[in-house]
Amino acid sequence: MVQHEQVVIHTGRRSGLVVIVAIHSTVLGPAAGGLRLWRYRDWRDGLADALRLSAAMTSKFAVAGLPSGGGKTVVVLPEGGPLDPGRRDDVLRDVADVIASLGGKYATGPDVGTGPDDMALISETTPHVFCRPAHLGGSGDSSPHTAQGSLAALRAVGRQVHGTASMDGRRLAVIGLGRVGAALARLLAAEGAHLTVTDVDAGKRGVAEELGAVWSSPDDILGAEVDIVVPAALGSVLTRQNVAGLRCRAVVGPANNQLASPDVADLLHHRGILWVPDYVASAGGVIHAVSTELHHAGADEARTRVLAIENTVHDLLDTARRRGQTPAQAADALATDRLRAAAASA
Ligand SMILES: NC(=O)c1ccc[n+]([C@@H]2O[C@H](COP(=O)([O-])OP(=O)(O)OC[C@H]3O[C@@H](n4cnc5c(N)ncnc54)[C@H](O)[C@@H]3O)[C@@H](O)[C@H]2O)c1
Repeated sequence: MVQHEQVVIHTGRRSGLVVIVAIHSTVLGPAAGGLRLWRYRDWRDGLADALRLSAAMTSKFAVAGLPSGGGKTVVVLPEGGPLDPGRRDDVLRDVADVIASLGGKYATGPDVGTGPDDMALISETTPHVFCRPAHLGGSGDSSPHTAQGSLAALRAVGRQVHGTASMDGRRLAVIGLGRVGAALARLLAAEGAHLTVTDVDAGKRGVAEELGAVWSSPDDILGAEVDIVVPAALGSVLTRQNVAGLRCRAVVGPANNQLASPDVADLLHHRGILWVPDYVASAGGVIHAVSTELHHAGADEARTRVLAIENTVHDLLDTARRRGQTPAQAADALATDRLRAAAASA
């Protein structure tokens, strides 16, 4: 994978906090990637996160075949409670200044710790921002599109594992019923899937009841006897230790950073469990937002691009099987090939 093209480390003049913008690649087009507000023990940990996450965005767009590059912004929050609203606005304006200074080489959107309203504030300084609220002309909350994209990935896996893309009668275990997980569970239930679900927030039991799903404890759900496990909560859900206890044919879902370490992809492969890289299965939201707001695609075209995740995953699984690779290796190779081809023709 290529080196980062540009990394800006800037101490905000209003907030005094460290703002890091990492532009991994603009080979395929101007870079895009979310703004993360998160606590780190040291700003260097925030830098490491920005470098890793921006590289993942490059792969995400390359595999999706879209003309965008990979970038990410991280703001290193201080220890303690939440920022007071005034200081939060200061941080966002500091971020906006850095993005504006890059002159369109990078655009930001929501990520952990930020949402559409924050993008509205940033857009007062720079137009290089996506996912502003719908009433301000943005594409708003990306989670319904992320859920649609994950369903598309699940369909491709269904074709590969069960010979049909239909979710009717399929048994799935959904981990996490937040914005994406609940939306995805609703789509699956509407198609006749049999759902087992969980969330650390017991208040989400209402979603299970609404959908006629079986409620499991967060500790037990990974061992559920189902066709597909769908991680839709936080990261590092698959570890060297717990892969042995899985009783499913595939793991596919929208959660970011599902593997505790990269070698877990090999362990899954050796167990005959299909794992679709999270950066492919979770791409629907950013594909939709970037398509409508940065590439100015119409609603139909944006939706088509999200649904194209099904064919992307189908082709990846096919390539992986033919080459004796894991789907993760096939996805990485596809991203690298597309970047090389674009660089060669530039
Ligand atoms: N929102 C998007 O458009 C989007 C896009 C790409 C990727 N993702 C990823 O999808 C995942 C879900 O995102 P979201 O926007 O729905 O977040 P969210 O915060 O709305 O929901 C996460 C849910 O997971 C639950 N949870 C946390 N830890 C859990 C555990 N150990 N076991 C079971 N449940 C647990 C939380 O209680 C919450 O209900 C995240 O990993 C996120 O990074 C989201």
